[in-house]
Amino acid sequence: MECKREPSDGPTPGEVEIASTRKPLIAANWKMYKTPVEACAYAETFLPLVAGHTRDEIAICPPFLALEPLEKSVRGSGIFIGAQDMHSEKEGAFTGEISAPMLKSIGVSHVILGHSERRHYNYESDWDVNRKLHAAIRQQVTPIVCIGEVQEEREEGRTNDVLLRQIKIGLEGIKPDEAATIVIAYEPIWAIGSGQSASPEIADETHAFIRSAVRERLGNSVADGMRILYGGSVKPETTAALLSKDEIDGALVGGASLDPESFAKIVKY
Ligand code: 13P
Repeated sequence: MECKREPSDGPTPGEVEIASTRKPLIAANWKMYKTPVEACAYAETFLPLVAGHTRDEIAICPPFLALEPLEKSVRGSGIFIGAQDMHSEKEGAFTGEISAPMLKSIGVSHVILGHSERRHYNYESDWDVNRKLHAAIRQQVTPIVCIGEVQEEREEGRTNDVLLRQIKIGLEGIKPDEAATIVIAYEPIWAIGSGQSASPEIADETHAFIRSAVRERLGNSVADGMRILYGGSVKPETTAALLSKDEIDGALVGGASLDPESFAKIVKY
């Protein structure tokens, strides 16, 4: 698969700048959409729309097959490429799996871990997420750890308990000096693909709770520097209100990131 290739003056994989001021991260999760050819066509439309945009960190997470061609297409633009999952081991007899060093070898800098769809359809546990998080940190791939509750848990007032369990086990064994690149994505499962995002107030309040849980475990400087993204039916029209909240440091966007114009509007909220 050959895509347009630009000279490389963009970020080196793994070398992710984390500003202490929490530079917003807007990440696209394409899920199981787009072939390599479609990914390249997307880049051609998307890049001019966001050219020169430096306020936010932008990452696109396509399916595995499109990672390499998309990385070539966006090289030099400052846009980061992320995977939607990875294995916790470097290599081995794990049929069908992809490791962090393999991702890094093709220029992937970010990885989504513990997305609710993987927890649900692939039975990923909090401990699986924890193993992958340790591997991402070891291999210097920026991890975007997804947490969130289902509708019933929110209605029964169990949201904080669920999030606390996911954070406690997910971050188990991580030391403060290893935590600088960790990004958490709060994705209430009831909001994913529903067309109805959480209100900015609910998201802000939940993010504040997540940050306090991180503070308790990893201290002030990690908690203050950690980016917490919101995900779940983010659309161009809802982005500004969500991102205006103090505790919301970016967005993880599914459906609305599949169209380059729509994702560009979100990036330029
Ligand atoms: P939607 O934006 O389609 O609701 O998906 C959110 C999501 O799961 C991003 O990881």
